[in-house]
Amino acid sequence: MTVHARRYDEKSYWEQRFEKESQFEWLGDYQVFRSILERYMQPTDKVLHLGCGTSRLGFDLLAHGFRQVANVDYCQSVVDRMTGRCRTFCDQLGLRWEPTLPTSEAPTNHPENDVQIHWLTADCMTMTSDPTLTALAPFDIVIDKTLTDTICCGDESEPDLGLRALAGQVGRMLKPGGRWIIISYSDDRPLETLPKQPGDCHWKVTRHRVLAPKEVTDRPMFTPDVYYHCHIAQKLASSE
Ligand SMILES: C[S@@+](CC[C@H](N)C(=O)[O-])C[C@H]1O[C@@H](n2cnc3c(N)ncnc32)[C@H](O)[C@@H]1O
Repeated sequence: MTVHARRYDEKSYWEQRFEKESQFEWLGDYQVFRSILERYMQPTDKVLHLGCGTSRLGFDLLAHGFRQVANVDYCQSVVDRMTGRCRTFCDQLGLRWEPTLPTSEAPTNHPENDVQIHWLTADCMTMTSDPTLTALAPFDIVIDKTLTDTICCGDESEPDLGLRALAGQVGRMLKPGGRWIIISYSDDRPLETLPKQPGDCHWKVTRHRVLAPKEVTDRPMFTPDVYYHCHIAQKLASSE
C-alpha cells in the first residue's frame, strides 16, 4: 500500500487547505505560551511574525500592547483574509490602523492607539530580497509558530537543509541581540551547530517546553503528557 504523506513544506498544500479552512490555531494560542512570550518580548518591540496562517497570534499581540507587528505568509488568500479581520479587530479595540504598505521613512514612535500592523505576502525563504520587508527591518523579534516545523518537513534529503536556509534569512532580518522565537512540535532545532554560510550569524539558544493544553492530552488513561517546545534563539553580535 502506498501512503501519501502530507507535504507541509509545499505551498500548494497550504493554498488548497486555505480554500476550505477559514480559522485554525496550530499548537495553541497566546495564552498557552504567554509566560514565555512575556519573558522574552516587550510591547515596544518591532515584531516579524512568520507563517502567520489564520492564527490569532497577530491580534493577540495587539491586544497585549504590541504596536509594530508585520505578519507574513506566502499564501495571498490568507493575507487578504487576515487583512479584512484586522479592520474589524482594530475597530473593536479602538485602534487606528491604515493598511498601507510600510516605507523606510515611516516614523518609529507612534501614539498609543496608532497601530503599525501589516499583513504581507512573502516567502520566508527569500524574504531578505523582498523590498517591503527589508524596508521594515531590522526587527527586535522574529516569531514563528510551526512555520519552522513546516520548513523542516522538507529536510528529508539532507538534514537541516531548510532550517539552515531559514536561519540565514531570519538572522539578516534581526537586530544584533534580537530574538527568534520558534514555537514548535519538536525539541530538535540545532541552530548553534548548523554549518554557516558567509554572513550567517551565530545563535545563543535557550529552550523551554510547555505542557500541551488539556484537550490535547485528555485521552485515555496512561497516555503520556504532550509537550510543545520554544526555542529562543538570540542573534549574537559577530564578536561574541
Ligand atoms: C503550520 S501553519 C502555522 C500557521 C500559524 N502560525 C499557526 O500557528 O496557527 C504554517 C503556515 O506557514 C505558511 N508557510 C509555510 N511555508 C512558508 C514560507 N516559505 N513562507 C511563508 N509562509 C509559509 C503556510 O502558508 C501556513 O500558513
